[in-house]
Amino acid sequence: MTSIWSFIKTRLGRAGGAMAAIDEQNLPQHVAIIMDGNGRWAQRRALPRIAGHRAGARIVRAIVQEAARLKIKFLTLYAFSAENWRRPKAEVGGLMKLFEEILRSELDELHGNNIRIKVIGELSGIADGARLQFEKAIEQTAANTGMTLIIALNYGGRADILRVVNELIKAGRSDTGAAEVDEARFGARLATASIPDPELLIRTSGEMRLSNFLIWESAYSEFLSTPVLWPDFSADDFRAALGEYQRRDRRFGGLSGPPSEN
Ligand code: FPP
Repeated sequence: MTSIWSFIKTRLGRAGGAMAAIDEQNLPQHVAIIMDGNGRWAQRRALPRIAGHRAGARIVRAIVQEAARLKIKFLTLYAFSAENWRRPKAEVGGLMKLFEEILRSELDELHGNNIRIKVIGELSGIADGARLQFEKAIEQTAANTGMTLIIALNYGGRADILRVVNELIKAGRSDTGAAEVDEARFGARLATASIPDPELLIRTSGEMRLSNFLIWESAYSEFLSTPVLWPDFSADDFRAALGEYQRRDRRFGGLSGPPSEN
C-alpha cells in the first residue's frame, strides 16, 4: 500500500501539484479515518504532544470541509479510543480541553453548513466541559440533512459489540422476537445503527492496525494506510485516498467481472 502512495505522491507532487483527479459521481457514502501520528509530528519538532493534537485539529477542519464539499454522506473520525485513557493525565486533559474548544468555535459553522454531528462511544465518561459541548452540538444539529460527522469518542469496537450481546441476553428470546440473531438485528443495536458500513477506512502515519475501530462495520471496508502523519494530511491527500479507493476492485468474497460458466 505504501508503494501505491509513493507512486501517487510522485506523480502528483505533494506541494503545488494539481489536485488528485477523482470521479466525484462515484464516491463512497461513508469514509472512516484513524487520525494517527500527532505525537510523532510534535516529537519531530521538539514540541509537546498536545501541540501535535492541536495541529491535527486544524486538519480535521480541512478534511470535514472537503468531505462536505464532495457530498460524502458520512465521515467518521476516531478522536479518542476507550484505550486512550492509558495516556498521561496531562495529555488526556489537554485533549478534552481541545475537544471542548473546537466544538465551541466550530459549531456555528458546522451547523450553518447543514452538518449533523453524532458521537459513537461512551460520551458519559468524557470530561464535563467537552461532554456538554458535544451534547449541545448533537442536539443543535440533529435535524440537519447534509453530511453526518461521526466522532468516535471514548469508543471501542469490542465494547460496543459486547454491549449489544449483553442487551440481547437481557432482552431474551421473547423480547427480541427472533429465534436467532442475524447481522441486521445485531447491527441495528450497534452505535452505528442506521449508518452504512464505511466503504473506505483510512489510517495515517503508516500503521496497519484497526486498533479496535469499527471492527464489525469494517468487515468489507477498503483499508488504506498512508505514511503521512495526521497533522500533515491535506485535502489533496484525502482526494488521493478516494482516487485509490476508486481503483480498488471490491469483490465481497465473490469474483470480479461477469459470472463464469462453471
Ligand atoms: C492519535 O495520534 C490522535 C489522537 C489520539 C487524537 C486525535 C484528535 C484530534 C486530531 C482532535 C480532533 C478533534 C475533534 C473534535 C474531531 P497519536 O497521539 O497516537 O500519535 P503518535 O502515534 O504519533 O503518538
